[in-house]
Amino acid sequence: MADYTTKDGARVGVLMGSASDWPTMKKASETLEKFGVLHECNAISAHRNPERLQKYLSDAENRGVELFICAAGGAAHLAGVVAAHTEKPVLGCPMQAWSLDGLDSLLSTVQMPKGMPVATFAIGGAGAINAATFAVQMLSMSDSDLKTAFSAFREAQSSAVSNLE
Ligand code: RP5
Repeated sequence: MADYTTKDGARVGVLMGSASDWPTMKKASETLEKFGVLHECNAISAHRNPERLQKYLSDAENRGVELFICAAGGAAHLAGVVAAHTEKPVLGCPMQAWSLDGLDSLLSTVQMPKGMPVATFAIGGAGAINAATFAVQMLSMSDSDLKTAFSAFREAQSSAVSNLE
């Protein structure tokens, strides 16, 4: 089995601590897909695959990945460990894992000590979608086509509020 999956031209690396996080993180991938943002998705555990993670991160940076979205549950340290290995922005998605309804994951992800930020989103699917949406916003700052697509999305979302059909 290959160490990890790569995609030519990927701008975002979506990482999760386990394949069991995929049903939730698929929503992040679908959101990036919707905006045509090239990305690659991998399940690499910070504590079960530490060497593979380190290798992936240095390879991804060399290939031009611009930011990482990291999902984990429980004592969710994946995003923090990724932040330690890269200077790229790290977006954290707390998973609703096996206990505490994901509050454990939220606190583990959000409570990074000063100097090592992880931009943390809501527990579960909404957070996964918002992390991807935020990634689109960040990338659109230097990508006018993406900015146009994002503005159209916001416009459509606003119009949908009053649509009763
Ligand atoms: C974390 O533990 C993973 O991110 C996942 O949310 C949780 C459970 O992992 P599995 O036991 O399903 O592999 O490391």
